[in-house]
Amino acid sequence: MRDPSPLLASRPSRRYLNPSHKPAWYAARQKTITRAQKRVERRLWPIFGLAFAFDRRIDLDAAFGRSAVDRSALVLEIGCGSGEALCSLAASHPDADFVGVDWFRGGLAAAMQGLDEAGAAANARLVRADAATLLRDGLEARRALDEVLVFFPDPWRGSEGRRIVRPEVVQSLSPLMQDGGRLHLATDVEGYADEARAVLASCCDAEARWEEVACDCCLPRPSTKYERDGIAAGRGVNDVCWRFVRGSVVRGCGD
Ligand SMILES: C[S@@+](CC[C@H](N)C(=O)[O-])C[C@H]1O[C@@H](n2cnc3c(N)ncnc32)[C@H](O)[C@@H]1O
Repeated sequence: MRDPSPLLASRPSRRYLNPSHKPAWYAARQKTITRAQKRVERRLWPIFGLAFAFDRRIDLDAAFGRSAVDRSALVLEIGCGSGEALCSLAASHPDADFVGVDWFRGGLAAAMQGLDEAGAAANARLVRADAATLLRDGLEARRALDEVLVFFPDPWRGSEGRRIVRPEVVQSLSPLMQDGGRLHLATDVEGYADEARAVLASCCDAEARWEEVACDCCLPRPSTKYERDGIAAGRGVNDVCWRFVRGSVVRGCGD
């Protein structure tokens, strides 16, 4: 067992419970949390939670007690919700480290419980934050992320500017990516995959680019409720993967 991280709070921090920087979109989201979820937070946040503060970036190597040489991959799931995919991946890849970020407190409580049941205390952590803000200001992870997962992101119908795959978010993500790191988007929202393709193409320049690759370059995506709901409602699911490449060298999937 690795040493527990000094970054883990002994209880949900005040910033977790009442963050001063709420994303604008949160006003319309669930604000209540049940007693059972609060009990889960009290028990499991000290194990899985990483405190996000604006004056200190989260050091993921310190959080996991191991660095890139000792792990097979560092994976970030944006909008992990109740953690269905995160729990499955963390349990089946103990050699890799997984971080889930979401703002939805009830979802994070379910994710903590799932990770606990999956025995993922050593290789999974959760952050409560607006993912766009976390990527911009919150991570000490320069060139460290091997894979970023965006599974069934909110469509924000009628408000595309709030979609998570947008130029300013990708610009914040790029410096955090390992050369050859992957981004995996899965969506059942019509047009989202093509819009994301356009966004990633717009974020390429002479220094670095996002290349679309086959999805077997990425971790296999576990099925989640959102996929099942989409299929049950007759919607198609689109998986799109990109590889982040610095410089101009063209490589194969396993390179
Ligand atoms: C439709 S759910 C999908 C959850 C999960 N990826 C899955 O497939 O089961 C979208 C999740 O993204 C979260 N989310 C949306 N925008 C976010 C943002 N800017 N920062 C953090 N979480 C966000 C929502 O709170 C919600 O839990």
